[in-house]
Amino acid sequence: MPERYVLSVGGSVIVPDRIDVRWIRGLAGLLDGFFEGGTEFALVAGGGRTARDYAWAVRLLGGSKTLQDQAGILATKMNAWLLISALRSAYPEPLDDVWRASAYVGRWIPVVHGSTPGVTSDYAAALLAEAMGAVFINITNVDGVYDRNPFSDPHAKLIERMTHQEFVSLVEKVDSRDPGAHTPVDIAAAKILERSGVKTYVVGKDLRNLRRLLEGKSFKGTTIVPGPQQ
Ligand SMILES: Nc1ncnc2c1ncn2[C@@H]1O[C@H](COP(=O)(O)OP(=O)(O)OP(=O)(O)O)[C@@H](O)[C@H]1O
Ligand SMILES: [Mg+2]
Repeated sequence: MPERYVLSVGGSVIVPDRIDVRWIRGLAGLLDGFFEGGTEFALVAGGGRTARDYAWAVRLLGGSKTLQDQAGILATKMNAWLLISALRSAYPEPLDDVWRASAYVGRWIPVVHGSTPGVTSDYAAALLAEAMGAVFINITNVDGVYDRNPFSDPHAKLIERMTHQEFVSLVEKVDSRDPGAHTPVDIAAAKILERSGVKTYVVGKDLRNLRRLLEGKSFKGTTIVPGPQQ
């Protein structure tokens, strides 16, 4: 069985402020290389700055949270087009159907975008990993899961290894369910990963570090595994 990965590519890394073309090119080059060596991937694009800007404007204009999410969803689709542009092996259009995407894996690298208000693109990525029997890698703008939000607390400590149950409890505390909330993944995604015991990694944007993870070497980040009772 070839190795299969779902990468939930944080919009915070694709569009931290402006679109990070250089990083996207670097990621695509890395993944194309592994794909040509037989590793299977599917990607899911997050919304990043674009999604937050639109959610902010929709809110000020009186739009509901669902409407804020709808605007954010379109941002994830735009970001999916960016990943497709950079990859040699991408399926040539963004997909909103994780089941169809899972059927393309191996022949191409399918790129999925958000589609459902009320959940994040991480949720689509978790479902896809579950459907594919894949390992889930969340790439975000911090180096992994911390015991507290590292942006608001400089003393926050990186958690190197935790169980799905511990991850669900941590996410429950920080997931406000607001459009554009900042969490390692949303609670819906954490629950899907837990129910199927999907091996999960959370890492930052350093591509040398991601390469080390894909090569099975030591890397900086968080590993999430089923607990003893699962
Ligand atoms: N315990 C925690 N550990 C790590 N990050 C946390 C924690 N609690 C909150 N966060 C926040 O989660 C942020 C990452 O999530 P965010 O949703 O901003 O980015 P993303 O998911 O990579 O991008 P996007 O949502 O646009 O796809 C971090 O920048 C951090 O501020
Ligand atoms: Mg997010």
